[in-house]
Amino acid sequence: MNLTKEEKEMLSGKHGNAVKKSMEILKALGEIYGAKKMISVSSVQIAGVSYDNLGEPGLEFLAEMAKDGKTRVLTTLNPAGMDMENWRALGIQEEFAEKQEKVINAFARMGVITTCTCTPYLIGNCPHFGEHIAWSESSAVAFANSVLGAYTNREGGPSALAAALTGKTPEYGMHLEKNRQAEVLVELEKPLRETQNFGALGKVVGEKIGNKIPLVVGQDKASLEELKSLSASIATYGGTAMFHMKGITPSKTKKPKEKILVKHSEIEEALAGLTAEGTSDFVSIGCPHASIKEIEKIAKLLEGKKVNKEVWITTARPTKKIADMMGYTKTIEEAGAKFAADTCCVVAPIKGRFNQITTDSAKGCFYAASKNKFKTRIKSIEECIKEACE
Ligand code: F3S
Repeated sequence: MNLTKEEKEMLSGKHGNAVKKSMEILKALGEIYGAKKMISVSSVQIAGVSYDNLGEPGLEFLAEMAKDGKTRVLTTLNPAGMDMENWRALGIQEEFAEKQEKVINAFARMGVITTCTCTPYLIGNCPHFGEHIAWSESSAVAFANSVLGAYTNREGGPSALAAALTGKTPEYGMHLEKNRQAEVLVELEKPLRETQNFGALGKVVGEKIGNKIPLVVGQDKASLEELKSLSASIATYGGTAMFHMKGITPSKTKKPKEKILVKHSEIEEALAGLTAEGTSDFVSIGCPHASIKEIEKIAKLLEGKKVNKEVWITTARPTKKIADMMGYTKTIEEAGAKFAADTCCVVAPIKGRFNQITTDSAKGCFYAASKNKFKTRIKSIEECIKEACE
């Protein structure tokens, strides 16, 4: 790889150990993927924050990097394993909380903004069209490439941290125009509405075309919430880092030759396949993290009601602060539902605590079944709240 004078100095250790280690990681990655040079990034989002995933080796790596590492660009974190303020109410053990706090403190020492969310674009880490960034969380990566028109690969935790500490990433993959072209035309039989249906669309398309980039046509409009749901499920079920949607995606693409049709019956089958019989003992909304619009909707649905099971609203802490300000938190908590800020039903250590989850998220269903061994039900937000109150 061709490195600039500054990048060579980073590699030599002139800027400290954390920067040296970071440049080693980035150079190795660039060589594996055939990058010719490094490019500057303006924003970073780091995954691998939950102590449940990191364990002791991950914590040791972060503590080592925090000795002299400092972020050079705007950097935020993916969800942690617990609500950093209200973890006791969510049934998190003291021992886990101590470890999780150590992880967050290591990031804070490096200058990372310790807002733990998979929707950084809702809380001020929001790149614009054409910006090169280094994000980790798969749903946020798909959203950034497809909806915002920013350019990012799906980084691993260490390579995202390395990008934060150097402000660089190797130029390969989704940073190059030629790799961002649609490969399959996906025609929808009928336009969709609501997050659970967009989640089902991501499942159907992902399972049909894998990690190829689709150009979705036939969808007349889509809300931010619907697009975040699609971004999450298409990345989960297929592995793509990007989709094009006519009228939504700002990046240009050639029209692909390969073509598939998604029938409405396939969307219904996908929903049915994720929905077990009976009622659940756990309801969770906010995968990806709930927007303020979704929280407002939940508050209205819960006004004057009481939930009869464990109900989590998972969101970014700054979004919850807006909910506090607007009185939505009070309404939701008076109904007996709980906020789980900074975390989510997938990264929190809740395996074995519940039998069945009801959620509006297809991605949430995937990991609830595979990681936590819960049965799942996918429903609209209205139906989730109705079930919570039964
Ligand atoms: Fe976000 Fe957790 Fe879902 S990280 S996309 S809420 S699995």
